[in-house]
Amino acid sequence: MDIQNSTVFDTRIGSSDADIALASQLVRQGEVVAFPTETVYGLGANALSAAAVNKIFAAKGRPSDNPLIVHLDCVERIETVVSALTEDAKRLFRAFAPGPITVILPKRPEIPYEVTAGLETVGVRIPSHPMANRFLRECGVPVAAPSANKSKRVSPTTARAVFEDMQGRIPLILDGGQSSVGIESTVITLATSVPTILRPGAITPHMIKEVLGECATSHHVPLGAAEAPGMKYTHYRTTCDFALRSAGEEVIALATFYKQLRRRVIIFARSQNLSLYEGFEVLDMGDSDEGICANIYEFMRNAEKKYDVIICERLIGSELCDSVMNRLTKADNTR
Ligand code: TXA
Ligand code: MG
Repeated sequence: MDIQNSTVFDTRIGSSDADIALASQLVRQGEVVAFPTETVYGLGANALSAAAVNKIFAAKGRPSDNPLIVHLDCVERIETVVSALTEDAKRLFRAFAPGPITVILPKRPEIPYEVTAGLETVGVRIPSHPMANRFLRECGVPVAAPSANKSKRVSPTTARAVFEDMQGRIPLILDGGQSSVGIESTVITLATSVPTILRPGAITPHMIKEVLGECATSHHVPLGAAEAPGMKYTHYRTTCDFALRSAGEEVIALATFYKQLRRRVIIFARSQNLSLYEGFEVLDMGDSDEGICANIYEFMRNAEKKYDVIICERLIGSELCDSVMNRLTKADNTR
C-alpha cells in the first residue's frame, strides 16, 4: 500500500445530520473527511493545522508542493484566513459567492505553509452546496480541501467515486448526491496587475469581466511553487486510453483504427451527432453544455471500467465548453 499514514480506515458513506456532525467533529480532531460541493467532492482537513493538512497529501498520494484551497461557510469569515481583502475581491465574492469560484489572496500568518505550498497567498472558496455549507459551519474552522480523487485521477462528482479512490484511507465520506457543476472551480488571482484566471471553470471570463471590467486568462503565470493549476502535474487521467478528437471524420478514423486492433472502443458524442457513428458503441453526452459539464467525469469513470479506449468529441461553442476542454485536453493520453 502506498499510503504513508499507516492507519487503515473502515470507510463509511453517510448523509444524516449525525454524519455531518461526526464529519465536522473528525475535522476538529485533525482527521480528513470527504464532503460534497457543487463542483466536485473535496477531501477536507483543518486548514489551521499543519499535521491535519499533511494527512490530506498522504491520503491523496499528492506532492505537497501543490497548494490547497481553503473552504469557508460564509463571506464574513474570509478575513480569518486572508490578510487583505481588496475591492476587486469583495466585488467577486459579492457577485459569485457562494459558488464555484476560488480567489487567490494574501494569506494570514495563521494559515500554515503546508496549505499554500510555501506561498504567501491562499485560495479561498465558499461552496454553495447546502451540505458543504452545513458541514463547514459545524466545523467552525477553515477547511483546506483538494478534490477527493487520488493524485492524477479524474475528480469525483459522486460519493461512490470518492469511495473508489479513498476506501481505507479516510474514515468518512459525506454523500450529497451528484455535484451539479461537475468540474472544479474557476481559480482567479488578484495578485497580478490584471485579474487572471489560472484555471477556467463555470464562472467564465465573460462573467468576471462584467464584474471587474477586465480579466486575463493564463496557463503560464509564474507563481513560484504553484504553477497554474493543472500545469505542473499530470491530471484527469483515466485508467484506459482517452482521446479527444474533432466530431465526425477524426473520431471515426481513430475508432476504426482501434476496432481493427480489437480494442473495446466507446465514443462520447453529443446527441446531435449520434447518427454519425453507426456501427460503433456510443455514449450519448446530451446536447446541453451544462449537462455535459456536470456528467463528464462520471462518464469517464464509468467507461474506463468497461472499455480500452474512450474517444471523446471536442466540445466547441460556449465558454463553459472551453473550461471542460481545458480538462479533457489534459486527459488525452494518446498524443
Ligand atoms: O472546485 C474546486 O476547486 C475543488 C472543490 C473541492 O472545492 N477543489 C479543487 O482543489 O479542485 P484542487 O486542490 O484539486 O485544485 C486547486 C488548485 C490547485 O491546482 C492549485 O494549484 C490552485 O488551485 N491553487 C490553490 N492555491 C493557490 C495559490 N495560492 N496560488 C495559485 N494557485 C493555487
Ligand atoms: Mg484536483
